[in-house]
Amino acid sequence: MEIVIQPTHADAAVVAARVIEDLLRRKPNAVLGLATGGTPVGLYKELIRLHREAGLDFSGVTSFNLDEYVGIPSDHPASYHRFMHENLFDHVNIPAANIHIPDGNTRDIPKFCADYEEKIRQAGGIDLQVLGIGHDGHIGFNESTSSLVSRTRIKTLTEETIAANQRFFKPGEAVPRHVITMGVGTIIEARTCVMLAFGAGKARAVAAMAEGPITAMCPASILQMHRQTMLVIDPPAAAQLTKTAYYNHVYSNKPDFQKLSAFPVV
Ligand code: F6R
Repeated sequence: MEIVIQPTHADAAVVAARVIEDLLRRKPNAVLGLATGGTPVGLYKELIRLHREAGLDFSGVTSFNLDEYVGIPSDHPASYHRFMHENLFDHVNIPAANIHIPDGNTRDIPKFCADYEEKIRQAGGIDLQVLGIGHDGHIGFNESTSSLVSRTRIKTLTEETIAANQRFFKPGEAVPRHVITMGVGTIIEARTCVMLAFGAGKARAVAAMAEGPITAMCPASILQMHRQTMLVIDPPAAAQLTKTAYYNHVYSNKPDFQKLSAFPVV
């Protein structure tokens, strides 16, 4: 795992955007795995800027989102469909037919999930997966104790996640208890993972995922077994890491050929 500590979350978003830009310039038909939540908003802003000002082309891109709530309309202000359109898709030239987000209103959830996995497979697999991390170390909506080989399926959210996501709903409005999420096993099949984490509230989860034991109690810790994961964080999120000086040393001494294009296209 490559750990990149940037002075601010805005700088971190730029670093992550450059990795995605580099991938899209070399592989215009790349398959992106995308996340929602507060964390990737700055990254998506930077991708939109690159599209507008530097011609970054999304016309060949296919996307698969990690997750969606079960049982709220897709145009609900807190739905991940709406989030993705407002924060990225409406502002770049990705074809609507190439966008995939779990359908939280499907009548047959197990079939939908199996089909979602199949669509990822048919698209050739995910080249680059954008990830945030929950306070408890969840990725997607794979809460603590999720199977580390799980596939796309329905999950019940913890009270902690429901409380954390209440901010996206109206005061007093019920947050759905269930979601459809890519599994941990689905996520780690992505060729590259880029995780972002900002703020002191993520420090414990970041330390557990990068330096703790691999355990289903912190599903993100499985990324220690992933070949190409980049963790881009701000200093408050890095506060509980023990090897910070080493991570900074590695990043500032990267060989030129690795500088920007962190990862090969495979
Ligand atoms: C969202 C997702 C979640 C979030 C995590 C952090 O698609 O997959 O795992 O990344 O809950 O959420 P924020 O970014 O709001 O702190």
